[in-house]
Amino acid sequence: MKLKLLVVAGDGIGPEVANEAVSVLRLVANASGHELKIEEKRIGGIAIDTDGTPLPEDTLNAALASDAVFLGAVGGNKWNALPPNTRPEAGLLQLRAALGGFANLRPAFAIKELAVNSPLRTEVIEGADILFVRELLGGLYFGQPREWNKISGEAWNTMRYTNEEVVRVARIAFQLAQKRGKKVTSVDKANVLEVSQLWRAVVTEVATEFPDVTLEHQLVDSMAMLLMTSPRNYDVVLTENLFGDILSDESAVITGSLGMLPSATIGGAVNLYEPIHGSAPDIAGKGLANPLGAILTGALVLRHSAGLEAEAVAIETAVRKVLEAGFRTADLARGNTSDFKVLSTTEMGKQVRETVSTLLSAPVN
Ligand code: IPM
Ligand code: MN
Repeated sequence: MKLKLLVVAGDGIGPEVANEAVSVLRLVANASGHELKIEEKRIGGIAIDTDGTPLPEDTLNAALASDAVFLGAVGGNKWNALPPNTRPEAGLLQLRAALGGFANLRPAFAIKELAVNSPLRTEVIEGADILFVRELLGGLYFGQPREWNKISGEAWNTMRYTNEEVVRVARIAFQLAQKRGKKVTSVDKANVLEVSQLWRAVVTEVATEFPDVTLEHQLVDSMAMLLMTSPRNYDVVLTENLFGDILSDESAVITGSLGMLPSATIGGAVNLYEPIHGSAPDIAGKGLANPLGAILTGALVLRHSAGLEAEAVAIETAVRKVLEAGFRTADLARGNTSDFKVLSTTEMGKQVRETVSTLLSAPVN
């Protein structure tokens, strides 16, 4: 297997966590005899500073010519005053649109060792294992018209979906549910919004192609509550773009830290992989960032873009073992401090590499 991976590490803690993920991927590639070619390009605030645009042409071309793209994080206080279409985040949105992936897979799962880090009671989260399928290229993020008219003192965005956009993401949700708990919960606001009525009607139609999967609908407001009161009731949660953005962050409390969670965007020309967390400028450069979300994102690269399931599982197992052994990063250091050892970003990366290496019985490098 030969994989050409473009790494766009971006801003804040992006480069620190991307480094650890890439080191793990290199180790796995060497150990299992696969060729991994890594290229790095700029995106986000750093690209604004050096190239005057959050997505330089050079980066875009390299992304389109690669087999997969790994993004660290974008954004930071320095660029907060910019309007939405020139901010670091705009670079990421342009990249998502160009690569064409419309199904953003975001897991939220309970981890036994981290139960103490969740504000939810252990008996509520125990065994919770949710996969969000967030539509990523439509809805309010991309709908036209959009404008802030400073003269009239009005601003508007448009939540728009076509039948086809809903069909294609719904199919992915049902296909994934077939391989998991065979249940899809579709989230909308069909009691108020026409766009949600279309969403609900189309998802209901798609469900008839998957008789072995149960479909239920939830309104987004009550879903926000249900995810906290009974997270174990959910398997695959299918949402439009903004609802998925909000609910997936909320559901990170099930895991205990946003820093633990990976994501993969599939369905387009090139898959895009990003940890769910942001650029966390307040802790950037201090060695405090949790690289595990990025490392688990690396596992998704192997699974979805390289067909290396055993290697992906090795990374996931290594992360679990490192936590079982009591290693934590600062964001996870809650509870009885004598039970664990707090590591820096690079130390945590090294622990994972050593464990992966033992699992694949290969030398550490
Ligand atoms: C995310 C982020 C992005 C989004 C931002 C950075 C554009 O919050 O990936 O969840 O809103 O999609
Ligand atoms: Mn978000």
